Amino acid sequence: MSDSEFLYDDLHIAFLEDLWGEGFLSPGGAEEAARVLDGLEVKGKRILDIGCGSGAIAVMLLRDLGAAHVTGIDVEAPVCAAATRRADQAGLSDRITIREVTPGPFDFPDKSFDIVYSKDSIIHIPDKEALAREVFRILKPGGWFAASDWLIAHDDTPSPEMQAYIKAEALDFAMASPARYRRALEQAGFSDITLKNRNPWYRAVARDELDRLSGSENARLSERYGKDFIDGQISTWQAMTAVLESGEHCPHHLRGRRPG
Ligand SMILES: C[S@@+](CC[C@H](N)C(=O)[O-])C[C@H]1O[C@@H](n2cnc3c(N)ncnc32)[C@H](O)[C@@H]1O
Repeated sequence: MSDSEFLYDDLHIAFLEDLWGEGFLSPGGAEEAARVLDGLEVKGKRILDIGCGSGAIAVMLLRDLGAAHVTGIDVEAPVCAAATRRADQAGLSDRITIREVTPGPFDFPDKSFDIVYSKDSIIHIPDKEALAREVFRILKPGGWFAASDWLIAHDDTPSPEMQAYIKAEALDFAMASPARYRRALEQAGFSDITLKNRNPWYRAVARDELDRLSGSENARLSERYGKDFIDGQISTWQAMTAVLESGEHCPHHLRGRRPG
């Protein structure tokens, strides 16, 4: 870790984008980000992106999928600055609004959005029940919540391997189980709830990422970000691949509809 006050500081942004693609702070790039919305009508929709990171997804939602407007919210200044720059450079600043927010209830009126989207960010929000209620509140009737997140397979105490992984990440993870997410969405009033386990996909991708970090791209990455930093990332990836292999770390796509 660097000494920054931010979890996603400029060093981490640059490293993660190197690994995952420009503007992406989560695995799979534009393809996986779009898959979260598979089968949903995005064209002409007003979308909220929770935890927008450095903004490539907002651009993708507008340019590739035809959204009408995207509001991206995030809690960290460096990623908001990067996302704002990206929207400007793409000439989309009139249709992308980036807002730095504080954790807690959303500062949006009821029924504001057609789609509430999120990619691998709500892991940072501990109260999944309050989150589900807030997402429901700001969705228009008939609107969809469509998210990807990193889940833990059960509600028991994390295994020692999982505890070691969470500690290695040092990113304030608040992982929840598929059962807890389903319950939270049901209790908030959502219908058409689906949860799709992406562990098989990310398990294979993460193995490849570890090969890149420790093998084919090690020299370039160590030169660019420092040997200690990359050695630290390799340890984190080793801890992560262990819990991906066991299935305890199970990224999911989550979906629910506000009845309308
Ligand atoms: C793994 S990154 C993913 C960013 C982006 N969605 C992507 O896929 O490229 C997680 C993001 O969630 C943000 N975040 C953390 N806590 C948050 C909160 N309470 N509300 C909104 N965003 C949050 C972080 O600052 C970070 O930008």
